[in-house]
Amino acid sequence: MTHRATVGEALSARGVSRRNLVKFCAAMASLLALPADMRQVFAQALAQAQRPSVIWLPFQECTGCTESLTRSSQPSVESLLFDLVSLDYQETLMAASGHQAEEIRLNTMKANKGKYILIIDGSVATGEGGAYSCIGGATNEQWLRDAAQDAAAIVCVGTCSSFGGLPEANPNPTRAVPVSAIVKDKPIVKVPGCPPIPAVITGVLAHFLAFGILPELDPLGRPKAFYGETIHDRCYRRPFYDQGRFAKSFDDAGARNGWCLYELGCKGPTTYNACATVKWNGGTSYPIQSGHGCFGCSEPRFWDAQSFYDPLPTVQWGSAATVAGAAAAGIALGAVAAATARRRQQNSEKE
Ligand code: SF4
Ligand code: SF4
Ligand code: F3S
Repeated sequence: MTHRATVGEALSARGVSRRNLVKFCAAMASLLALPADMRQVFAQALAQAQRPSVIWLPFQECTGCTESLTRSSQPSVESLLFDLVSLDYQETLMAASGHQAEEIRLNTMKANKGKYILIIDGSVATGEGGAYSCIGGATNEQWLRDAAQDAAAIVCVGTCSSFGGLPEANPNPTRAVPVSAIVKDKPIVKVPGCPPIPAVITGVLAHFLAFGILPELDPLGRPKAFYGETIHDRCYRRPFYDQGRFAKSFDDAGARNGWCLYELGCKGPTTYNACATVKWNGGTSYPIQSGHGCFGCSEPRFWDAQSFYDPLPTVQWGSAATVAGAAAAGIALGAVAAATARRRQQNSEKE
């Protein structure tokens, strides 16, 4: 039987030092909010883990999720780690095509029965018998059911596979559904975002490699470590929000001074994601830092929820928040008010 390299051995073969592996593990452990005494255990478990086979299937998608991961930055330990899972099938990246690619997929599923990780990006078209999106003469749903059957776990990368995303937007002409609408009997972790942050995808894989289980999930199936707080909870413009200082247009003095983008439609208060802390492009920036409000891309139905540029219901500055708008708006405001109250309570506890 051939020896399958562990992550530690493979990283070492690529010239990554033990010190850098430990550094990477410490950063991942911190991202995953592991307790301090678990970090060493995590590093050891990750170094000793065997590279799992990964099958990545693209359905109704735009390739943005793949682009996000592959163009994340220069070669980094994260990308090396991703290289070091055995990515056996990924149509965009693999050299094989046609019958050869099909053979690889079937052989990989057979050889790694019950052990491979199935990654999906894109939603599943169910209209007209699935005819809107077929690969090799079979519908996305058939491919999904076949591959899910013997998978150890499924990772939905992006909002399309997690919640339906853009293809599911009104009027949803292909009757697009998320993976969880089809597969009910497998562990599924959702990593939404349009696209998701590469480090978050890597973090979920690292957790699975090290511990053999998925990280703790929120009620929508997202890892709590990355989706446990709103963008607003950790936004660097938050002091301006708390002071009621808002940019009124994208090029006014307030915008130039970094004031809050709430009145320009920012959905940060109702969006759970790690953009404000993990950021993009190797931790360089995120949409709000570039001067544009968050439009809630990691939330279900974000395309249809409301205009990207309509503000969430108005908060009246003073002793209490008041609802201005219909019941649906009230729900969003409730989330804003709750988040604000929580933050204020945290602040007062610290004082
Ligand atoms: Fe493209 Fe966004 Fe869907 Fe990813 S989630 S495939 S980036 S539309
Ligand atoms: Fe940041 Fe948007 Fe919250 Fe303002 S509303 S603090 S820009 S997340
Ligand atoms: Fe998406 Fe908002 Fe982050 S739009 S990329 S969740 S800041």
